[in-house]
Amino acid sequence: MFSKLRPLIFKIDPEKAHTLAIKSLKFNLIPSVFDEIKDDSIFKTKLFDKELDNPIGMAAGFDKNAEVYSALFKLGFGFVEVGTVTPLKQYGNPKPRVFRLVEDQALINRLGFNNHGAEIVKNRIKLDNNLGLLGINIGPNKDTDDRLNDYLIGLKTFYEVADYITINISSPNTENLRNFHEESKLQELLKCISKEKNDLNSTIPIAVKISPDIHEDQVNQISEILLENEIKAIIVSNTSEATRDKLGNIQRHQKGGLSGKPIEEKSNVLINKFYKLLKGKIKIIGVGGVDSGQAAYDKFTVGADFIQLYTGMVFKGPNIARIIKKDLKELLIRDGVKNYTEIIGNKTLS
Ligand code: FNR
Repeated sequence: MFSKLRPLIFKIDPEKAHTLAIKSLKFNLIPSVFDEIKDDSIFKTKLFDKELDNPIGMAAGFDKNAEVYSALFKLGFGFVEVGTVTPLKQYGNPKPRVFRLVEDQALINRLGFNNHGAEIVKNRIKLDNNLGLLGINIGPNKDTDDRLNDYLIGLKTFYEVADYITINISSPNTENLRNFHEESKLQELLKCISKEKNDLNSTIPIAVKISPDIHEDQVNQISEILLENEIKAIIVSNTSEATRDKLGNIQRHQKGGLSGKPIEEKSNVLINKFYKLLKGKIKIIGVGGVDSGQAAYDKFTVGADFIQLYTGMVFKGPNIARIIKKDLKELLIRDGVKNYTEIIGNKTLS
């Protein structure tokens, strides 16, 4: 069905197509295909002490304003991360700001945290029946005087309605946001988050989402800081700013973050580095280029405990979670395992 519609959808501007997808999900216009792999013990797992149907999550950026996360659970995702949400409503960068690189199975976006703002998003979540594990990804407003305080506002706004909160320090589309990867800045940020959590008397799990473009030396340093501050998960990774010379599409040099197939290998190498250092002490959520059972399998074998995707949905359609589950299950049965967690970290990349 989707493969027949795809040429038509791909004639529409990518951001408009996304708005249409959100509307269709909101009004239940996407036909729900029978999910033959629901409640399968091969995928059963726990994230932050909550049972998940499966370890495949929707990454941040798809449902920025918490409008369709219930529909995403119905499409077969095991967990959903909404956002990035900033304290105040924000338009983002001028359009066009999303580019589809079909021959590269990739997107470039420079949206710049367009979102409805924290209060509206929180109230929307409060009205909805939560069907599954919900993460809320927070970031600072572009024009704020105090970025660190914006993260604290996000934490204070969402700690009672989220199952976990992601500190996004890795969008390439908010100038210098990635400076929070530096040792002293990351320490200061996570210490303040930890103190705020304490003051709120909250045990909400915190995840940190990082850039795929960090230097090798930073892996060790970041791991130590996360451990010291009792961070519960690391999300590897956000979109990439690295060179695009090898890509085929004419729009490859558009400014913004690259996602999809071309960042898969880079993200896998980084996941493997963190896996070797963290040794299971912090959960790893692997993101970047997952669009098939094999790609999901590869992410688990290099060390991801859970996976997320966004671009794969654009190229493979709304049934992607089910397609992945079906194909991944075959690979797991081939390996003779009873639960997918048995393959985590089985492979070492150099
Ligand atoms: C994103 N991503 C993203 N990440 C984030 O933490 N906050 C955000 O607001 C967004 N927004 C966003 C918009 C668009 C259009 C895309 C394509 C991506 C990044 C996303 O969550 C993910 O980390 C990367 O896209 C890599 O995964 P995929 O897309 O290759 O599966």
